[in-house]
Amino acid sequence: MRATFERDGLRYRPWGARDLDALAALVTDPVIMARVGGALRTDEVAGLLDRYRRPDDPRVLAALCIEDEAGAPIGSGLVTREDDALEIGFLVRREHQGRGHGTRIARALVELAQTRSELVIARVAIDHAASIRVLEKAGLRVASRTPDHLVMERRTSPDSQAGLGPRAQPRSGEASREGDPPGFTPGGGGAGDSPSESQLRRFR
Ligand SMILES: CC(C)(COP(=O)(O)OP(=O)(O)OC[C@H]1O[C@@H](n2cnc3c(N)ncnc32)[C@H](O)[C@@H]1OP(=O)(O)O)[C@@H](O)C(=O)NCCC(=O)NCCS
Repeated sequence: MRATFERDGLRYRPWGARDLDALAALVTDPVIMARVGGALRTDEVAGLLDRYRRPDDPRVLAALCIEDEAGAPIGSGLVTREDDALEIGFLVRREHQGRGHGTRIARALVELAQTRSELVIARVAIDHAASIRVLEKAGLRVASRTPDHLVMERRTSPDSQAGLGPRAQPRSGEASREGDPPGFTPGGGGAGDSPSESQLRRFR
């Protein structure tokens, strides 16, 4: 799914060939990456960008660069397959944290994932209060826990769509596929069945 859409003042688009610096600013930052697998080395970023840009990886439903209205890079969003669920993950640049962007992004990713799966999950370190709070605000609840991590989930039922706020607004001239929310632009990247790939659930 090559989604491009705008929601709550943020623009979501697939990563492009020129986004190496924007991606590197996120995934090589040791503070941002501390609880999501650790920072990448600079020489690993091009490989990650290549993977995000592959149109045919059935495990990655969406790998999105997120910008504000001025076009400034804000963060990254991922929707990946995890058994019978779709897993969301997100990163916000340090200088943009604490302004509600994480919450907006989580809600947008949930909404996107819900177009393809009744079960949306996220894994979060058990002491990661900001991320847990963001996920709660996006409607996820704790489903299980290990000593280190929580698995949080949101299940879709016909009457459980409340609480996500306004839906994505279409950008002029963009078509949406039947079943996709307004503003989601379908493209390459099929959603075939694939084995679980736990490595992919983090940003590396
Ligand atoms: C987690 C992350 C996405 C949050 O982004 P953000 O833009 O700062 O999030 P928001 O501004 O929308 O909201 C943060 C919420 O957490 C709360 N929060 C922040 N720090 C907190 C802390 N130490 N303890 C408790 N709550 C905290 C905020 O008060 C806010 O909740 P509120 O609106 O009820 O007040 C961002 O810190 C990040 O990218 N971290 C690194 C990567 C990561 O851990 N990603 C998530 C796992 S996939």
